[in-house]
This record gives sequence, structure tokens and C-alpha cells, in this order.
Amino acid sequence: MDWSRVLGWIKKPKLWQTPGSVIGVDIGFSSVKVVQIKTEQGRLILETYGEIATGPYGDLAVGQAINLNTEQIVTLLDDLFREANVTSRTGAIAIPLRSSLLVTMEVPEVSNKELPQVVSLEARKYVPVPISEVALDWWVIPKKIDEEITIPTRERENTLKTKMVEVLVAAIHNDTLKQYQAIAQAAKLDTRFFEIETFGAIRSSLGTELSATAILDLGAGTAKMTIVDYGIVRVSHTINKGAQDITTAVSRSLGVSFAKAEEIKRKVGLMEQVGEEHIAPTVNPMIEFIFSEVNQVILDYQRKYSRAVNKIILIGGGSLLAGLPEVAKGLVETPIVLGEPFDRVEAPPFLTDVLAEAGPSFAIALGVALRVLNNH
Ligand SMILES: Nc1ncnc2c1ncn2[C@@H]1O[C@H](COP(=O)(O)OP(=O)(O)OP(=O)(O)O)[C@@H](O)[C@H]1O
Ligand SMILES: [Mg+2]
Repeated sequence: MDWSRVLGWIKKPKLWQTPGSVIGVDIGFSSVKVVQIKTEQGRLILETYGEIATGPYGDLAVGQAINLNTEQIVTLLDDLFREANVTSRTGAIAIPLRSSLLVTMEVPEVSNKELPQVVSLEARKYVPVPISEVALDWWVIPKKIDEEITIPTRERENTLKTKMVEVLVAAIHNDTLKQYQAIAQAAKLDTRFFEIETFGAIRSSLGTELSATAILDLGAGTAKMTIVDYGIVRVSHTINKGAQDITTAVSRSLGVSFAKAEEIKRKVGLMEQVGEEHIAPTVNPMIEFIFSEVNQVILDYQRKYSRAVNKIILIGGGSLLAGLPEVAKGLVETPIVLGEPFDRVEAPPFLTDVLAEAGPSFAIALGVALRVLNNH
């Protein structure tokens, strides 16, 4: 699908000089990630990537979520670009889902001329601020898909009376866009667009598959779940538990600092290790909570649209928790895989294992960078 259509606040393209290296930036709650890629004779090459924890820039520990201000983010980006040897300053930045809105809504089928007004009116029900304060874009879910899969029988009867169409609506508050523009300017970035992180995650995690797939981004603050069907976002759902909550729980149960708990979490994970702290009993209930919600959203989707969700792709730093996929597999029937976004790009063979391990964290940064190249 044409993502630029879904997200209309792309800067007017400048005339491209040579399509050199580009970057994608993901400013997460607990860490900022960057990926630099380029095309060479039609091949996508990974040039560099890197990540820096946000916590220490606001006097918190590594892994702790914090909303840094513009100045702190710019300092962090400076350090990140230097340490990761990022040479390009052309690219794009992902906007966190928590600062945006992504929703599928049904509106009466009207003429193309009237549709913008109808969508804008309906969107007011979902957008908690005056509609004039947001950048709003929307995309009609193709009728063909609607007819084939998305209208349940009861609603189908209703649609005989009033024909409805489903519309995917994306909104970002103008203040958020302004803040990101200020960050880009202060960091001397030539940003081509801003897009909601969900779209970056989809671009790098999903191929061209048409079957319904769930992407679960286990971030520090929250877990963000997206169901994509026929390549289109059908469900965007946020679960209010994140990987940071796991560290906090470990810190409490073991009576250690957050920093120490973070270290133990990363080292031990959910594995049983002789002579090590055993944190699974503390962590498992949180994993169960997250995946029971994931399961519910999938079941609701399958019931509503009579369409099977064929797999769950895990991304985000939280998915690196050792043993998580194995535990999660026991909690949901839908097959679970770890995202492998770096599979889309070429890199030196000696990096294969490292990239597979780090991949899930960089899904958004890479996805955003891919669009910068695609737009060429
Ligand atoms: N090797 C690891 N093992 C276990 N947990 C890890 C590992 N690496 C990172 N994490 C956890 O992942 C979380 C960070 O994930 P991620 O970088 O996706 O979050 P974020 O993008 O900063 O947050 P958000 O998406 O909520 O804004 C942290 O809570 C961290 O503890
Ligand atoms: Mg994130």
C-alpha cells in the first residue's frame, strides 16, 4: 500500500540529488535507535546501526523510561550518531504511537467529495482534542476486502440499509509534529517525513504477505499490538504494561536497585539458571497478562472477521528477554516468531548472529529508513 497516502504530512519532496545513505530514527521511551542504510546496484545495504538508553540523559538508570525534552534528545542524538558512526543526516523520524491515534472506523458510504467531511466528523469522536489541532489523514479500506472478509453477517444485513465503508484514520497532534520538527532542526537533520512508529514496524517486519498477522512491539512503557490484514492496519491496540514494569517488579522482589534488576533481567531472563537469581516467578504473571490481552484481541478479530491471524511477530527490546518466545508459545495458540527486520538488508556475514539478536529492537528505525529509500 502507499503509506505516503496514509500519512499525508510528508514534506514536499526536494529534488533528490544522488540517492545516498539515509537514516531512520526511533525515539523510544527507554532508548533511541538509529539505522543507516543505502542502496547499491539495487541492493539494500546496512551501513550502521546503534542504540543509546535515554535514562542516563535524565539522571535515571538504563532501561528506565523517560520523556526527554528536545535539548536532551538532541544531545543524545549527537552522541548516538558519533558512537554509531552515522554519517548521513538525511532521513526520517518515527512518532510514538502514544502521541498519535490510529483507529479503524466505519462511516456511511458517501460520494468522494463528501467523504472527507464525513470522516472528519466521525474522527471527532475518537480524537480527544479539537480536530483543528491535529494533522489528520485517512485511507478507505478497499471495498473488495470489505466485501470478502470484513463485514460480519449481522452487520452485512445492516449495510443493506446504510452502506458503510471502513476507514483507517491516523492523527498526530500539531504540537507533537512541531516538537519533532524542532528536534530535527536542532539535530541538523534533513527529515523527509514523520510517521507513526506502527508503519515503520510493519514495513520492516512484514513481507508482502496478505494473510492476517499480528505485530507485538514490547517497548519499555507499553506493548503495542497491530493486526495487519491484506497489508492494511486493521487493529491498533495498546496494552498498558511494558518491559520496564518487569524490571520494576524484579527490583522489588529481589530488593535491588532498578539498575541491578535491569542487569539481572537481561542476563537471566526467564531461564532457570543454577546459582543465579531466578526471576521467572516474578516475571511470568506479567507475561501472562500481556499475552492474555494479545490473545483476546486476536480472538475478537478472528470472530468478527472470520479470518485467522496466522502469526504473531515479536519486536521491541522487551522481546529480547531470554526465554520469552518459549513461554509466550504456551500462552497463545497463534504461532509466535521473533521479528528479523535486518533480513531485509545486506550486511557482512560475521554480523549475522549479532543482527539476528538485535533485530527486534531496530524494526521501527529500519522500517522508517526503508521508506526514505522507497520514496526516491
Ligand atoms: N537483552 C534484553 N533482555 C531483556 N530485556 C531487554 C533486553 N534488551 C532490552 N530489553 C528491555 O527492552 C525494553 C526497551 O525496549 P524498547 O527499546 O523497544 O523500548 P522503547 O522503544 O524505548 O520504549 P517504548 O516503545 O515504550 O517507547 C527495556 O525495558 C529493556 O529492559
Ligand atoms: Mg519503542
